[in-house]
Amino acid sequence: MGLPIRPRRNRKSAAVRGLVRETRVNREQLIYPVFIHDDDGDTPLASLPGVTRWGLKGLLAEAGRAHKLGINAMVLFPKVPDGSKSATAEEACNPDGLVPRAIKALKDKLPELCVITDVALDPYNSDGHDGLVRDGKVVNDETVEILCQQALMHARAGADIVAPSDMMDGRVAAIRGALDDEGFSEVSILAYTAKYASAFYGPFRGALDSAPKSGDKKTYQMDPANIREAVREAQLDEAEGADMLMVKPAGPYLDVISAVRANTTLPVAAYQVSGEYLMLKAAAQSGWLDEKACVLESVTSIVRAGADMVLTYYAPQIAEWL
Ligand code: PBG
Repeated sequence: MGLPIRPRRNRKSAAVRGLVRETRVNREQLIYPVFIHDDDGDTPLASLPGVTRWGLKGLLAEAGRAHKLGINAMVLFPKVPDGSKSATAEEACNPDGLVPRAIKALKDKLPELCVITDVALDPYNSDGHDGLVRDGKVVNDETVEILCQQALMHARAGADIVAPSDMMDGRVAAIRGALDDEGFSEVSILAYTAKYASAFYGPFRGALDSAPKSGDKKTYQMDPANIREAVREAQLDEAEGADMLMVKPAGPYLDVISAVRANTTLPVAAYQVSGEYLMLKAAAQSGWLDEKACVLESVTSIVRAGADMVLTYYAPQIAEWL
């Protein structure tokens, strides 16, 4: 054909492909989300095969295992008993609660591990919403006051990063102010910036028994149809003092990751959520997909789209494969 330009030359061997590869995933980019509870034992989760809800002892062992594999960051998600839930979600700010005890235990055992906490009321709220419910509505400003108390409590327990996942307006600036006023200027904020009202969170809510008792989360989480709004949220969170921004879910929202990446200089995280994990796991377990190849491809795609960090339940497994 007399072709002077042949792109296939750059694909001719593993060595050449390695030289020209544009995206590399490494362990340092991975954040491992873990479920915890206040029992002694560890519970494998029926709604998330391959994922366990850990007691404190189990959590420390799992953190040690993951850290040995090269995982440097974890984010904690608590399940609290129904008896500790209330309409005012006091347990979210209890300094002797499960999360602060877990933070202290982790930082004691693995001081160099980056411990991230989820700031939102849903695990503690008898209404199952991320904010307080009044007259059937999730109220913004009162919720933000509690979120500030919750973030402060996490900071006092030793959290390195607090991650508000509630999608209330103005919470990043308020939390930044509350942290700075108490001398926690070194505690970072990873803002769930573009968190969509996604059906892919279903298995997570099963794992924590945290589904909303009535209604849905559409008055605070974003409409999956929107992308300009994600850029608007990114600009606000950046202006309010966020250190890192997050897009969630990840795989079905690669265009949003890319848009947020293009419109901020902050680091961008993306969360491969429970439903994304489950699709890969279920297909792998039934023999329909090659798990390792598909998981690595999915995470590479998330990084290629512009994510600097990826939260994934596959984190230790990926670290092992890499
Ligand atoms: C709640 C929260 C959710 C997830 C992380 N934090 C669920 C929700 O918003 O209902 C979902 C994570 C996942 O599905 O893996 N603050």
